[in-house]
Amino acid sequence: MSLDLTGITLTYPDGDTRLTALDAVSLHVPKGSVTAVLGPSGSGKSSLLAVAATLITPDAGTVTIDGRSTAGLTRGELAELRRRKIGIVFQQPNLLPSLTAAEQLQVMARIDGRASRTARTWAMELLDAVGLADQAARRPHQLSGGQRQRVNIARALMNDPTVLLVDEPTSALDHERGAAVIELLTRLTHQRATATVLVTHDRTHLASADQIAEVYDGRLRLTGQGILDEEAQRTRS
Ligand SMILES: Nc1ncnc2c1ncn2[C@@H]1O[C@H](COP(=O)(O)OP(=O)(O)OP(=O)(O)O)[C@@H](O)[C@H]1O
Ligand SMILES: [Mg+2]
Repeated sequence: MSLDLTGITLTYPDGDTRLTALDAVSLHVPKGSVTAVLGPSGSGKSSLLAVAATLITPDAGTVTIDGRSTAGLTRGELAELRRRKIGIVFQQPNLLPSLTAAEQLQVMARIDGRASRTARTWAMELLDAVGLADQAARRPHQLSGGQRQRVNIARALMNDPTVLLVDEPTSALDHERGAAVIELLTRLTHQRATATVLVTHDRTHLASADQIAEVYDGRLRLTGQGILDEEAQRTRS
């Protein structure tokens, strides 16, 4: 299972004309692998994630998740797909101030309608995976920036997504904490076999990526490491 973007073109209204944010972009992200996406400000990286997340419908092209095209799905079906299959980590951890770290995760499961006891166990497991088991009862203002970002990542994994989309998760962190977050994302990608897209501006993060894509002026080019070879995919699957 994987994430596939095929021939994605996305335009935004721009005065009397339209601005092309994505220009015939195609990308294959196998499960259990990380694709790093680089590119200058305004090149289309966040737009690419928004299309992959099915938050924006492109002018042309298809998004395929788990082998199923999202074309023709209703708004309700797309919302359901996002809940079940897609984890999104936004640049700013948008945690709810009044909830503890554990509750931030559990509230996701409640949205998904799962029993709350299972949700609590699973939330604790994920907080443990991101190294925050001992911080579960803390609220956002009692956590550091890096810890908040780790809660944000754990929350995105709460519904066991197939696709994990991450937009510059380290921009608010120092180098060391940033590297730890990337290491964590890579490990969780392999453990949970997600198809992960990681937007970053930090080239030191590229070492752990399986595939590197550069976006420039809405066009995407694979520039490093290529697609995972089949052997690597098999061992991880
Ligand atoms: N909602 C919108 N309406 C109109 N134009 C938009 C909208 N969102 C983005 N754009 C434009 O689309 C282009 C791509 O924007 P996008 O946010 O995808 O860039 P980015 O690569 O994520 O940039 P950054 O690194 O600064 O986050 C830019 O020219 C931007 O101005
Ligand atoms: Mg952006």
